[in-house]
Amino acid sequence: MTRARKTTRRPDRIAIHRARVNIDLGLPPAYLNIMAIREIITVPDPRLKEESRPVEGGVTDEIRALMDDMLETMYAAPGIGLAAIQVGVPLRVIVMDLSGEDEDPQPRYFVNPEILETVEDTAPYEEGCLSVPDIFDEVERPVRCKIRYLDYDGQQIEEWAEGLYAVCIQHEMDHLSGTLFIDYLSRLKRQRAVDKVRKAQRQKSRSQAA
Ligand code: NI
Repeated sequence: MTRARKTTRRPDRIAIHRARVNIDLGLPPAYLNIMAIREIITVPDPRLKEESRPVEGGVTDEIRALMDDMLETMYAAPGIGLAAIQVGVPLRVIVMDLSGEDEDPQPRYFVNPEILETVEDTAPYEEGCLSVPDIFDEVERPVRCKIRYLDYDGQQIEEWAEGLYAVCIQHEMDHLSGTLFIDYLSRLKRQRAVDKVRKAQRQKSRSQAA
């Protein structure tokens, strides 16, 4: 997911995140760059319609490496949430960071997340998505939801999400079942969004080829 108003300070976050992961691994920062920015797929890529499958065998180093790459990719974009299918990996894995511009990074990791309960109250929020770049529109969702997931260390967490956290986790969970936020808009708006992204991508690849 992306914020309607884009921020520019994200490169710092990549540096802080890299330094932290290297410290966790007992490595001096900057000696080893183990993370990689992956390509984010965009509409109308058919993979975005796929159902993602659960991670089996718990949160392994391989899954953590995927989440590290996803977080770095998300910070670089910049975005506030990213599902694995957006980098072409059909697994039920999500990363997120909802911290404000002047706050320290607060990465969150979700493996096999589930929504256990939602409240009846709904509210609109202007959403954006890294797989539908530069398109923003209001989506109405429940204001609170109870979720269960495994975190970076494989611990099971159960908690209520509200505010932007509730919006973002529902948006990202939708990706795991092949649903995009534009699927909630009218058919005309959705088609316009896909056409606009496709055109922008074509222009981008043309200018890269030139
Ligand atoms: Ni999205």
